[in-house]
Amino acid sequence: MKDDKDFDGLEKKVSFADQYTLRGRFMRPVDTSAILKHLMWQEFSLSRIIAGWIIAIPTYDQKLQLGRHAYLHNRNVKFLRERIVELPGGLNDNEWIPSYVREAFDRLFTASSPNAFFISYLFVLKRLHEQYDELLLKLDPVLNAPTVDQIKLNLVERDTELNWVVNQTFFTDAESEELALQAQNWEKYAVRVWSVFAGFNNHDMSSEIPWPIHPVQEAAGPMPEEARLEDKFQRFEVKRGQTAYTDPEMSVLSDSVKQMIYIYATEFTAGESLACVYYSVEQMPLAFYFDLARHMWDEFRHSRMGMRRLEQLGYTIDQFKWPTGPGLQLAKNHFTEIYSSLTMIGEACGFKKKRKSAEAFWKFGDVLSAITVEFDLSDERSHVDFGTKWGPELYKREGIIVTHQEMAEQARLRRLNEFDAVSPEDKEKLAKNFPAFCSLHTSELNYHKY
Ligand SMILES: [Fe+2]
Ligand SMILES: [Fe+2]
Repeated sequence: MKDDKDFDGLEKKVSFADQYTLRGRFMRPVDTSAILKHLMWQEFSLSRIIAGWIIAIPTYDQKLQLGRHAYLHNRNVKFLRERIVELPGGLNDNEWIPSYVREAFDRLFTASSPNAFFISYLFVLKRLHEQYDELLLKLDPVLNAPTVDQIKLNLVERDTELNWVVNQTFFTDAESEELALQAQNWEKYAVRVWSVFAGFNNHDMSSEIPWPIHPVQEAAGPMPEEARLEDKFQRFEVKRGQTAYTDPEMSVLSDSVKQMIYIYATEFTAGESLACVYYSVEQMPLAFYFDLARHMWDEFRHSRMGMRRLEQLGYTIDQFKWPTGPGLQLAKNHFTEIYSSLTMIGEACGFKKKRKSAEAFWKFGDVLSAITVEFDLSDERSHVDFGTKWGPELYKREGIIVTHQEMAEQARLRRLNEFDAVSPEDKEKLAKNFPAFCSLHTSELNYHKY
């Protein structure tokens, strides 16, 4: 935290209304910091709520793009934080989203349908842009140049994102008068929530206007009971105690090294698992969410690179069966297990298979598939590092102290307990023998067949 002694005696508490009252034409460092913090918590709330909605949105392309946007807003948090910690007041490790920001965003995004979510998303995005534009007009280009520089980083992708979000609000299913009216009413509700939000004082959590009554009885998101996925993806129920990706039912490529590309395409479910963790876990240091958001987006990217390559090679979605991501209960009660299993088993056991696949793709002259695997390998190294660093921290939140080795062994035992045919003694042994464990957990591919 920034040492405040140089600012002792100067006014530190700036009311929300006063933040926008200029000291003449100039903003002081404390004013700047307060406004940046306010923006940062909004960016963070938006990022987490987008992640929560990914699970509730059935359309594959939208899921993937939202994975990217959740990451971009997280990066905006990171850029703002970099400047905030240079200013008086800094940022405590235990600071968290102020309750009125949370309340406003929960109200704006607890919506009855994906369409309503996109209306809220567009509405909030426009409000954020207005705040950045207003702030940029107020910042002194000499005194406050480092703030201007950080804000510019947040603007790089904004038009691309805005255009995409606008396009999602031209709903093909909203042609009926009733649906159009619902959309209008939802937007009016958002306007009312925002006016209460804008009236809040930054410090004493009060507003002159009460929150409007929330009109949604049954919310579709964020975080529904079950993850949703559009019908063109035939479902595959992962069976308990089955070595991953061995069922020939899943894929027409199960006897070929190209199975690796199909495996990538399924990784949107890993992205969804991480989106659940990102949305559900609270009060961790911001650094955790920075790593997690990158990890989450990488998995959606891996799915995109797999799907793109499958399509380039002439395969279609209906030639495969697809797993689905986790729902609300699993996310709420088991996020520590989800995270440690993904990083310590799913990702850690994948390296051998991936290296062999890359070699095989080079041998068969499939350059793009080979390079795809190479990029994935470099992402996966950082993902396992993230798991090693943050997995024990997540357990610590639950009052459990474990080393990353113990956490990995427990994850392996959990997985082994799904295999009824393996004796308890063998389970103990396998949990300590990483290569033997991985051969049971996941399949080898046929590297000799293209
Ligand atoms: Fe991946
Ligand atoms: Fe990964």
